[in-house]
Amino acid sequence: PLVKELFGLSDLEKAMREAFGLSKVVIVPGDSDESDHVKREMGRAGGRVLRESLSRGDVVAVMGGSTMARMASQFPVSAPMRDNWFVPARGGLGESVDYQANTIAAELAKLTSARYRMLHVPDHLSEEAYQTIMQEPNVKEVVDMIRGARIVVHGIGDAMTMARRRKVGPDTMEEMKREGALAEAFGYYFDRNGQVVHRMATAGLRLEDIEAAGVVIGIAGGRSKGEAISSVLRFGHDDILVTDEAAAEEALRHL
Ligand code: G3H
Repeated sequence: PLVKELFGLSDLEKAMREAFGLSKVVIVPGDSDESDHVKREMGRAGGRVLRESLSRGDVVAVMGGSTMARMASQFPVSAPMRDNWFVPARGGLGESVDYQANTIAAELAKLTSARYRMLHVPDHLSEEAYQTIMQEPNVKEVVDMIRGARIVVHGIGDAMTMARRRKVGPDTMEEMKREGALAEAFGYYFDRNGQVVHRMATAGLRLEDIEAAGVVIGIAGGRSKGEAISSVLRFGHDDILVTDEAAAEEALRHL
């Protein structure tokens, strides 16, 4: 396509940085919708970027998803990181176990000899049960740690794909469509302007914690996610994006 002929990847990275006000963009060649190799390479690049962003003592809150799982499994292991913590950004969210934030935090900690905490709060709790569980000292301690994380790493999904994957009921689905939900990240759903239109009720990171975090890193690719990526970047709190060529081209088309 035309965009490819005009831009090398570093020009595309620059165009993305400028369009969305990001401090760093890393783009791998190709389209992860079409090739698992591209998705793995993007995961590897994400791991490298996270490694470079880490300082001693940092707490890292990680979200779930298949892209995050690839980042974790390829995280570059060097010196043990005994001063660092990995925590799940949110509990539950109805994902299969391999893709849950808890699993990803534990895997990263194991690989790097860092420390970790798990957040065991199931989805679909009644308001009353939720309030009770949040008062448990052990849960409260983890939630406080998550909310104070300096670094947040997250995937981005297409809203309807994620709602289906998380078995959101048909009524809520219709409501989200009416509200113009396009993208999902950190358990929140965003419209094309980056406004939050819906949220999943689980414990963990809130939007104000994302706004307060030192470094927010998004990792997502594939042409089908381009519009969703553009919408989450418009929310405006990401600092770093790791993506692929096809998604970057598509995101720029939805400026
Ligand atoms: O929040 C977004 C999703 O976790 C992205 O999931 O990487 O499996 O597409 P995915």
